[in-house]
Amino acid sequence: MEFHEQLAIYAERTEAELNRLLPLISCPQQEVVEAMRYSLLGGGKRLRAALLLAFYEACGGTGETALPFACALEMIHAYSLIHDDLPCMDDDDLRRGKPSCHIAYGEATALLAGDGLLTHAFDVLLHADCEPLRTLKAAGCLAQAIGVYGMIGGQVMDLANEEKSDVSEELLRQTDALKTGALIRAACEMGCILAGADENKLSAAKAYAEKIGLAFQITDDILDVTSSTEELGKPVGSDMEQQKNTYVSVYGIEGARARSAQLLNEAKEELKTAGFGGDFLSDLADYILERKN
Ligand code: IPE
Ligand code: IPE
Ligand code: MG
Ligand code: MG
Ligand code: MG
Repeated sequence: MEFHEQLAIYAERTEAELNRLLPLISCPQQEVVEAMRYSLLGGGKRLRAALLLAFYEACGGTGETALPFACALEMIHAYSLIHDDLPCMDDDDLRRGKPSCHIAYGEATALLAGDGLLTHAFDVLLHADCEPLRTLKAAGCLAQAIGVYGMIGGQVMDLANEEKSDVSEELLRQTDALKTGALIRAACEMGCILAGADENKLSAAKAYAEKIGLAFQITDDILDVTSSTEELGKPVGSDMEQQKNTYVSVYGIEGARARSAQLLNEAKEELKTAGFGGDFLSDLADYILERKN
């Protein structure tokens, strides 16, 4: 199957299940549930869900067991974007082509919608119909990836870097590896864990994930400069406005692109060495560099 066709299938499966996992019901909390659904549904590339599902299948997993875990990742991702857009963070008014959550619902509801999505993600995966030990390992992997030494830690570093006049490549790499790479790595790792993959496959998946995770953020930084708000669905020039230190601000567009391309080639090598079959994961590495939004 062609890459974009496969990606669309993963995204559709995820979207349908997300809709089912967070229904709009009449309740005193309706406003915040609406805000959660507003930010969660009907947008996004669903890349993290696709990665989890693709690694699950590449390691021999079948059926729908992994789908709630893929949905949990997208809930956590949506929460991170709601909070990332808040005035106290990146102060961005547009997300996925529509007003950011805090513009549509106000800051307090947006904050709580983010908290709600984070918590709901663990509710969903801990109640999934899956072998208990695998569920436990996957949940532990995810909690570690998004905590203060993972995604949150990266967000802290990203904000702290704004104050700095010179930021080393190593500091940028660490920041991106945490704020964006950690969740992407958890996606790949959890897919393997849920399928009961061996150590060899698991460590190759981690190595691949670390490289594509970094490349993904580098491309995000490039698009912030080269794309248009219409195409991106979020404000371009946001990084410059917030005085972010990124691969682009430090190495220029061509330098950033070259680094991203190198990482993606290395990621594809990891797949080959570990004997991962199929083209999807390798094509996904190419897509990360070529993507337009
Ligand atoms: C945007 O992620 C935030 C970053 C971590 C760079 P995506 O580009 O995956 O956002 P959606 O889910 O497709 O909107
Ligand atoms: C976002 O990075 C990282 C997380 C949300 C954890 P960015 O701030 O670069 O993402 P965009 O550009 O707003 O999507
Ligand atoms: Mg940010
Ligand atoms: Mg941002
Ligand atoms: Mg960005």
